[in-house]
Amino acid sequence: KLSKAVIDSAPKVELHMHLEGSLEPKLLFALAQRNNVDCGYESLEALQKAYNFSNLQSFLDVYYAGANVLLHEQDFYDLTWAYVLKCHAQNVRHIEPFFDPQTHLERGVSFETIINGIDRALIDAQSQFGMSSMLIMCFLRHLDQESAFTTLELAKSHLSKISGVGLDSSELGNPPEKFSEVFEKSRELGLKLVAHAGEEGPASYIWSAINDLQVQRIDHGVRAIEDEQLMRHLAQIRMPLTVCPLSNTKLKVFEHMSQHNIFQLLDKGLCVTVNSDDPAYFGGYMNENFHALYQDLAMSASQFKQLLSNSVEASFASQARKLQLQ
Ligand code: HPA
Ligand code: ZN
Repeated sequence: KLSKAVIDSAPKVELHMHLEGSLEPKLLFALAQRNNVDCGYESLEALQKAYNFSNLQSFLDVYYAGANVLLHEQDFYDLTWAYVLKCHAQNVRHIEPFFDPQTHLERGVSFETIINGIDRALIDAQSQFGMSSMLIMCFLRHLDQESAFTTLELAKSHLSKISGVGLDSSELGNPPEKFSEVFEKSRELGLKLVAHAGEEGPASYIWSAINDLQVQRIDHGVRAIEDEQLMRHLAQIRMPLTVCPLSNTKLKVFEHMSQHNIFQLLDKGLCVTVNSDDPAYFGGYMNENFHALYQDLAMSASQFKQLLSNSVEASFASQARKLQLQ
């Protein structure tokens, strides 16, 4: 029988988490002080009051402002290491975190500073905890494809540290097809491909991510429910959806957790997974997301088991590692 204790102790995999979104208020303040950057907030309370979102854009404004305190390699190490410690405490054994280089390049931070800090923490996670990882570099979709190409060019000398590329930021008005060429180029470089689609955007954006970008996973994808044919297709090709329950309620994709469609998607045979998205901003990490499903949607033991095994199936880990994770 399922309980919070069973949820907490189960081995887990996380496939949709933005490192910049794991910046906890306490570390944000410490880095602001260490780097002499004005973080724009008087107190911890003032900061947390700003975490009152009405949609994706109102969150992104706060999320990009918070990232201003990240300047040095050690900052990116500390950020990543804090997330690794959380994962270890929650028995998350394999992670595929996102990072947004353009957010930092714009402020004069070098690609090397960012990637070396993150990579060093992921190496320590492997050696200290046996935690495996695959790092995914996201392109910001509110910027143009030219900027994404420049970013990919910078990444070329670090491909041993990067497993894939993704697409995030403001979805509405920035459909996947805007990035067809840079995704094609990324694929030629041997990178895995994922994209946010169907969070705030319509089901047609999910079709575009599949057909125009040839992604191997859809991030969010909850609006697939509006297109029966798409749902059948996603089920048939076992296209994973990295669903983020707490994120979706904080950003008002669903008014309340009791209205979330995750188990409808699962019942339709889709390869649905559970993830935290931006845990410092949305009220929790992996365990808290599962707790919410248990409390508000009466998640059963078999549904929980299915969600966990879907995450292993959907991961980019090697076949050998997948066997260990099952
Ligand atoms: N959607 C789009 N962009 C993002 C998100 C998200 O949920 N989180 C961080 N960047
Ligand atoms: Zn996301």
